[in-house]
Amino acid sequence: MNGIEGRDIYAGYGKIEVLHGASIRAGQGEIVCIIGPNGSGKSTLLKSLFGLIMPRKGAVLFDGREVTHLTPEEKVRSGIAFVPQGRNVFASLTVRENLEMGGTPLDNEREVRQAIDEVLEAYPLLKDKLRDQAGNLSGGEKQLLALARADMIQPKVILMDEPSIGLAPRMIEEVYEQILTINAKRGVTFLIVEQNARKALSTAHRGYVLDLGVTCIEDTGAGLIDNEQVKKLYLGG
Ligand SMILES: Nc1ncnc2c1ncn2[C@@H]1O[C@H](COP(=O)(O)OP(=O)(O)O)[C@@H](O)[C@H]1O
Ligand SMILES: [Mg+2]
Repeated sequence: MNGIEGRDIYAGYGKIEVLHGASIRAGQGEIVCIIGPNGSGKSTLLKSLFGLIMPRKGAVLFDGREVTHLTPEEKVRSGIAFVPQGRNVFASLTVRENLEMGGTPLDNEREVRQAIDEVLEAYPLLKDKLRDQAGNLSGGEKQLLALARADMIQPKVILMDEPSIGLAPRMIEEVYEQILTINAKRGVTFLIVEQNARKALSTAHRGYVLDLGVTCIEDTGAGLIDNEQVKKLYLGG
């Protein structure tokens, strides 16, 4: 299968095991969302897929090839990007410098400049802000910059941790519009973790509920929104 897959992942921190056999997949061009309560292991799952935490058991596959033990750097070079929680841009650097950081894996300055031009076409909101210090951007702009920085190397898969947390509703719309645009234009696969789940589920093609370290429900985004159990337990009624 093309895309990314986590198969029966066990992972944790020291003596604590957080994931007890979590399985997810996002096929090429799919937008897939993982929802679930605080502390259920959503971030741990993304980190395990990206190689920031090594799974103790289970496998990570990318385009059908096992990549479980690749480092994050190797994963980036193979086409997997990670946008961590918290809109972490380099606050003291300008927008352009942040984008340049995302271009580090590229071969030379010319390629980085070209990538910046392409990213600015795809992220028009950043165009007028190139010289601004990233720390002065609004929350939504920071999230877009974090996504654009990951997108500098045109990854096939983007893993995103809680992109909408703390954002005003209008900016949540902007961020999800951007995700949809990138997905439609380039067929980028998205695997998105959200605690604030409604917007993510209404955007996603498919979704999973992760609870207590296992993926317990899987359905289309719309199916999960309509699921009585999901509504009651995970969508606040
Ligand atoms: N670096 C860490 N060291 C020890 N425990 C951690 C660490 N990060 C997360 N945990 C624990 O792992 C569990 C799952 O955390 P996390 O994956 O962040 O959940 P979620 O993203 O779903 O809120 C929680 O109980 C949390 O306290
Ligand atoms: Mg988390």
